[in-house]
Amino acid sequence: MNLPSALLWEGTADGQLVLLDQTRLPLATDTRTCRDVHSVWEAIRQLAVRGAPAIGIAAAYGVVLAVGKPAAAGVSAGELLRIVEEAADFLSTSRPTAVNLFWALNRMRNVASKLVTTSTSGVQLSEMLLEEARRIHDEDRRMCQQIGSHGARLLADCRGVLTHCNAGALATGGAGTALAPIYALQEMGRSLKVYADETRPLLQGARLTAWELATAGVEVTVICDNMAADVMRAGWVQAVIVGADRITARGDVANKIGTYAVAILARYHNIPFYVAAPSSTFDLSLISGQDIPIEQRAAQEVTSFGAQQTVPSQALVYNPAFDVTPAELVSAIITERGVIEPVCEVTVRTLLEIPAASLIAANPKLSGRQL
Ligand code: MRU
Repeated sequence: MNLPSALLWEGTADGQLVLLDQTRLPLATDTRTCRDVHSVWEAIRQLAVRGAPAIGIAAAYGVVLAVGKPAAAGVSAGELLRIVEEAADFLSTSRPTAVNLFWALNRMRNVASKLVTTSTSGVQLSEMLLEEARRIHDEDRRMCQQIGSHGARLLADCRGVLTHCNAGALATGGAGTALAPIYALQEMGRSLKVYADETRPLLQGARLTAWELATAGVEVTVICDNMAADVMRAGWVQAVIVGADRITARGDVANKIGTYAVAILARYHNIPFYVAAPSSTFDLSLISGQDIPIEQRAAQEVTSFGAQQTVPSQALVYNPAFDVTPAELVSAIITERGVIEPVCEVTVRTLLEIPAASLIAANPKLSGRQL
């Protein structure tokens, strides 16, 4: 299957991060090369790299970029530790909602602080940081694969599904979260029809999901966001599947603005509403979704369509990038560890707080309900 890579690292610890520039899709498949931490911050902020897992991976490589050149120039491990902290603090200001960003940066901070001893050289430390960033990237690839196989079982009887925003290969280090089960079914010779909400204002559904599905040979129909109810009433979709930027301990889900409305529509039409996300997207320090910080973006994203202004200059604009869907509207959460169903604090904590190795060894098909 032909899936794009959102990002890749080139070279050794003083190498560079190459991103597929998602601001240019679907018209151009340009890459953007980041050689310092500032260019990674810009790329995340401008959505050249986007989607919760991909943001975390890019930020981890951003930390590697911050230390690569000073390490090669002979800066000590102790001084590099300060540079790591500074870079992580800076990158964490790029976008506030996706918890994967903070999760990945904490992993990088932990590696640096644990490994700095009097005998560690700066070069060794920067190599270890690259190893950790690569590990975050590889783990995400594997988590996508596992989400794909757990989710394929849930979607096995569907003819059509609806998705919102882009939670595919472009948003992760692998085959995606919400789109991974669709790809897994396709590999088994089972094709699904996918309805992609265009996802105003930045059109991740129309520009990105439609592009990556079509490139992979999956039949995709783009609809305006306000057509989802009509598609559901027509009986064309038997499930909704979306990704997430942050999921709280009780299963409230922050995802792209408009997700909450889709979940309400799905409940009204008696269609299951699935969320697919790796464990790195859970924030068990929060209970209520109302405590998730929601990114507010520039008014201009709403007031113009391409170069054309579509809103009078006197109008005020509200432009949150994400909304929160309460757990009660979520039929199940598909993680790499298994399926959480029903969604509540007990089932979320049970699946997420058990050490991964013992859980998977016990039963790879485990669901929250069975625990
Ligand atoms: O603003 P974006 O494009 O970064 O928003 C992305 C989403 O909302 C995705 O659904 C989410 O990050 C999950 S990606 C696997």
